[in-house]
Amino acid sequence: MSSVPYLKFAGPVLDEATIAGVADVLRSGWITSGPWVREFESALSTFCGGRPVKAMTSATAAIEVALQLAGIGPGDEVITSAQSFFTVLNMIVKVGATPVFVDCDLVTRNIDLGEVEAAITARTKAIMPTHWPGTLVDMDALLALARRRGIRVIEDAALVMGSQWQGRNIGAIGDLVTFSFHPNKNMTTIEGGALVVNDASEAKRVDPLRFHGITYLPDRTRDVAFPGGKFNLPDVNARIGVAQLAQLPAFLAQRRALVDRYFERFMTDPPCVLPPRPSDGDGQSWNMFSVLLPLGRLTVTRKELRDALDAQGIGTGVSYEALHLCTLGRRYGYKEGDFPVTERIARETLTLPLHAGMVAADVDRVCAAVTAIVQQARA
Ligand SMILES: Cc1ncc(COP(=O)(O)O)c(C=O)c1O
Repeated sequence: MSSVPYLKFAGPVLDEATIAGVADVLRSGWITSGPWVREFESALSTFCGGRPVKAMTSATAAIEVALQLAGIGPGDEVITSAQSFFTVLNMIVKVGATPVFVDCDLVTRNIDLGEVEAAITARTKAIMPTHWPGTLVDMDALLALARRRGIRVIEDAALVMGSQWQGRNIGAIGDLVTFSFHPNKNMTTIEGGALVVNDASEAKRVDPLRFHGITYLPDRTRDVAFPGGKFNLPDVNARIGVAQLAQLPAFLAQRRALVDRYFERFMTDPPCVLPPRPSDGDGQSWNMFSVLLPLGRLTVTRKELRDALDAQGIGTGVSYEALHLCTLGRRYGYKEGDFPVTERIARETLTLPLHAGMVAADVDRVCAAVTAIVQQARA
């Protein structure tokens, strides 16, 4: 076992001022959704160029509500990348729609828009792409395609809070956009998420979807016309969100510096395939640093390599398994070979530690450990 502290592959940074702020909320007598949620939503809206933003208990909740807001249900199809997190598949299925997978690009890992075009049918209601850190989906091409074919776009922006498309924050443009504030993301509310909508009337329609389906009547009683969810963010979490959003630029700068260090350390004889380095580096946020392992040329499996890193106190992740090959995905008729790029990434990907609490020496330790294992395992 290693004597150095275990390096998690992701995690939050929570300062004492934030912790004190949470204590104040806990003592205030109002701990569920209230003034701090309004403050958080207002700050998020400013971040998103003035568009209305609704805070939720998770990005998963925000995606479910976005699908319902777009009127998507049984008989409808939603096109999404097979290389994403399970929630994308789960929520499409949960609202009763059919997931239609397409492959992704090997370099950017983003949904292949050419394949999206080919997958559109009369039943297609939405495209749901996941933005990859460092390499965003081409927003111009995506929105032009959606407009041309008359379908909605639900951007899964869980990994790219703080990334910019042509100088504007992701969330400030587009149709429906969802963010995650899970502790592994660029900023956190413990659990939490947000949905960006187009206008006040859509924002109003989110309220009952987020809170029991309740609407408020003039006589101060309530009505329910459909079974809404229960996804309102408590004030305790929103208080953390307000503090984290203010610190987001600093968190992103630290993540960028760590990524620069990864590129620098891996520059000569990289032991794995590195992600592309964006030309507009300052406009990109790095939620993860995911590499591809040259497994065909190694005598170890990915599990063995991860176990060896674990034994040296280094945590890693898999981002992501192939959605079409999980048990739920296969129920829609998908099988091995359907999406070769997604499947290759699912086999070879390894997410290395990256979070704003790390320092350059942590990156050096990871790079040295990965390089040593790979060099030893070269077939
Ligand atoms: C790409 C992506 N989308 C959505 C989510 C869901 O986020 P949440 O945990 O806030 O529901 C995750 C979570 O890890 C994710 O990685």
